[in-house]
Amino acid sequence: MEVIILPGAAEVGRFGADRIAAVVSRAPRAVLGLATGSSPQGIYAELARRVAAGTLDLSGVSGFALDEYVGIPADHPQSYAAVLDRDVVRPLGLAPSRVRVPDGRAPDLEAAAVDYDRAIAAVGGVDVQILGIGANGHIGFNEPTSSFASRTRIKTLAPRTRADNARFFASPEEVPTHCLTQGLGTILEARELLLVAQGEAKAEAVAAAVEGPVAAICPASALQLHRRVCVVVDEAAASRLRLADYYRYTHARKPDWQRP
Ligand code: GLP
Repeated sequence: MEVIILPGAAEVGRFGADRIAAVVSRAPRAVLGLATGSSPQGIYAELARRVAAGTLDLSGVSGFALDEYVGIPADHPQSYAAVLDRDVVRPLGLAPSRVRVPDGRAPDLEAAAVDYDRAIAAVGGVDVQILGIGANGHIGFNEPTSSFASRTRIKTLAPRTRADNARFFASPEEVPTHCLTQGLGTILEARELLLVAQGEAKAEAVAAAVEGPVAAICPASALQLHRRVCVVVDEAAASRLRLADYYRYTHARKPDWQRP
């Protein structure tokens, strides 16, 4: 696992955008795994800036959302379909027909979940999965004690997650109680994982994910099982990492031949 500690959110966004741009320059039809939430906003904003400046073309890429609320109308401004359309698909110039979100309104949610994993497999899998991390260590909506072998499926949101996400809704009661989320097993099949976190509120979860035991109580600790993971954090989110100095030392001395 590569851990990169940068001064602030702006640098985290630029670094993440560089990683995505590097993947797309090698493979213009790359498949991106798209996280919602505030953490990857800096990456998306930086990618959008490059697309607007004409230095990056993302029109060939495909995208798969990590998760979606169950029961929320697709045109609700906080459905992840709407969020991705607004914050990612349009500003990054992605082809809407190549971006998929789990169908949280499907009459048969279990079948929709199975279809979703099939659709990912049908395009050859995700090349790089962008991830945030919840304060309780969740990735996607895989709440603590999610199976490391889990596939896309229905989950009940933890009360803490609903409380954390209440800021996006008119009232806490309006936050949906269930979701469809890619499973940890699904996420681990992506060829590359890029987890971003900023702020003190994420410090404990980041430390547990990177340096704690691999345990279902911290779903993001599943990243330790993947061969190609980059965790990019600002100083505040890095503040509980015991080996922070080692990560800085390693990053400063990374040989050019090892850079992506
Ligand atoms: C959300 C999403 C996750 C996200 C996480 C952290 O509820 N389902 O994909 O990574 O929680 O959110 P944020 O980045 O806003 O802190």
